[in-house]
Amino acid sequence: MTKETKGTYYITTPIYYPSSNLHIGHTYCTVMADAMARFKRLSGYDVHFLTGTDEHGQKIQKKAEEEGVTPQEFVDKVVDGIKKLWATMEISYDDFIRTTEPRHIKRVQEIFKKMYEKGDIYKSVYEGLYCTPCESFWTESQLVDGKCPDCGRPVEKADEEAYFFRLSEYGDKLLDLYEQHPEFLQPDTRRNEMKAFINQGLEDLCISRTSFDWGIPVPIDEKHVIYVWLDALSNYITALGYPDEPELYNKYWPADVHLVGKEIVRFHSIIWPAMLMSIDEPLPKQVLGHGWLLIDGGKMSKSKGNVVDPVVLIERYGIDALKYFLLREYTFGQDGIFTNEVMLKRMNFDLANDLGNLVSRTISMIEKYCDGIIPPAETEDDIDKELKDLAVSIASKVEAQMDKFSFNLALEEIWTLVRRANKYVDEKEPWILAKEEETKDSLNTCMHNLAECIRIIAILIYPFMHTTTDKIWEQLGYTDEVCWEDAEVFDKLKGQKVNKGQVLFPRLDIEKELEELEALKGTPKEENIPLELKPEITFDDFAKIDLRVGTIMAAEKHPNADKLLVFQVKMGTETRQVISGVAEHFKPEEMIGKNVIVVANLKPRPLRGLESKGMLLFAENGERLEIVTTTAENGNGVN
Ligand code: MSP
Repeated sequence: MTKETKGTYYITTPIYYPSSNLHIGHTYCTVMADAMARFKRLSGYDVHFLTGTDEHGQKIQKKAEEEGVTPQEFVDKVVDGIKKLWATMEISYDDFIRTTEPRHIKRVQEIFKKMYEKGDIYKSVYEGLYCTPCESFWTESQLVDGKCPDCGRPVEKADEEAYFFRLSEYGDKLLDLYEQHPEFLQPDTRRNEMKAFINQGLEDLCISRTSFDWGIPVPIDEKHVIYVWLDALSNYITALGYPDEPELYNKYWPADVHLVGKEIVRFHSIIWPAMLMSIDEPLPKQVLGHGWLLIDGGKMSKSKGNVVDPVVLIERYGIDALKYFLLREYTFGQDGIFTNEVMLKRMNFDLANDLGNLVSRTISMIEKYCDGIIPPAETEDDIDKELKDLAVSIASKVEAQMDKFSFNLALEEIWTLVRRANKYVDEKEPWILAKEEETKDSLNTCMHNLAECIRIIAILIYPFMHTTTDKIWEQLGYTDEVCWEDAEVFDKLKGQKVNKGQVLFPRLDIEKELEELEALKGTPKEENIPLELKPEITFDDFAKIDLRVGTIMAAEKHPNADKLLVFQVKMGTETRQVISGVAEHFKPEEMIGKNVIVVANLKPRPLRGLESKGMLLFAENGERLEIVTTTAENGNGVN
């Protein structure tokens, strides 16, 4: 049956950083987007669901260097894993965009050029506070306790030639947008945060970097690469072919919804609309900010060893149980705490006890009392009518909740029917009806009604747990295409032959599962947290330093200063005096004979009456100070 479409529906997830494997928090966002995409398709929309990976930037470049591979090799491997995860979870995306794909690169360059031609991009010098892990610049006033407001790590001063986008010109236009279209940014709290942010005054946005090269070259100046957010945000239209192949773009843009986590709402509701205004393109209809899944009240992190791996959970409990839990447990827009115990309880109570039990007992009874054939309804009493009325009323309630992205309440509506149907079995006591010939009609009605409820439930859960729908379909011996409107009718199944299948959701031994999950955690993995460093220097800065190998020929205390040691250092043909403030850490005699590294071209300076020509390298090791030594030949002065 071909359905008439209700129009198009374009939904996106953020494009994930392939810096390591995705965890349950990322999975949460994609599962929500998938449920919405499936729901809209089922309701008759022509859906385009986009996800992908955000592969450029300094962080990825550094990770690749650490692993001794090229950035491309590094991301290829991680992206492969991400795609496998989505395939295992049967995520129904229509397109997967990688920012390293040629189609994206050339289109981002086009977008940059359009913004430049509009006069919205100019070259200047950036002096700012930069958080390397977040790849974000911050103003002094945005810092929290002097640190990055997103991740709490130290920021560093950055000063370099860069291109800027005139974001400051767009503050009023953005405020107008929020005023005229409050639905553009939801929930309301997020919009209020963004208004406050804009009211502080928007600064122009630095959109290029020269300090690393893993990025899309600025089309008008190849020394620069495009700063990651301009690159990343563009994915929502480059994937549709903007600007050179506009067919899909014209069909699906503007997006109906960008689903994003709360910390990246700012980029999507300020930078992204401003970029689109700059290139004179329509704005997305909605940006929706969801909350985070937290563990022990904090974010998941590898160093804490509390990252929840979706692959482990899928292997143990199946994709539908995991998806059900994520969608049922958490309230959209709010943070939620993830614990294994809450997850296992949901799986047992809602899935094994409620849904699984309803399906299994109904099919068994139809086999036992009706030779496996779903009978017609012969009679109807008040209880039958109440059940039937409830069953056909749920679809519209689910629609109302889905309109608000309230996945949990949509599922709650469905479960009122699951629970009511189970209660109906207890009230009707079919095992008693089956004993007498004169109650045969009531028994048939009871079996029919239960089968119809299961059919309706199978349709309603399809957006959330489609593989369970397929299994229920099989057990009902039903072959019709899953069709949302069929959840509002109650007489589709007469004469169908049922097939008892496998248990949908096995009961879990919660204690045992908890122990096993705990054991699987293993030892916390080390996270690569960047060191607190002084402001970055360029290679050219570094190249100015002349480092030489020297040997300490003599060492003594400075006659006029307790903290200073005076060394005579031989470097090839020259022996010179170098003074260091390390007397508290070293005895003079233990330094003699050491092969050291000397900063040989440091401007000489007098220290308490003696001249120091150069500097020896030391490194802090906790409380201790270590002298940097080398195994190079004695005092040969090589560099
Ligand atoms: N690459 C950027 C997004 C660019 S979109 C044009 C990025 N990537 S990310 O991999 O760090 O995060 C992607 C999404 O995952 C974000 O929306 C983020 O909120 C979400 N989550 C990451 N950890 C999360 C939880 N613990 N809980 C819920 N969502 C979380 O940001």
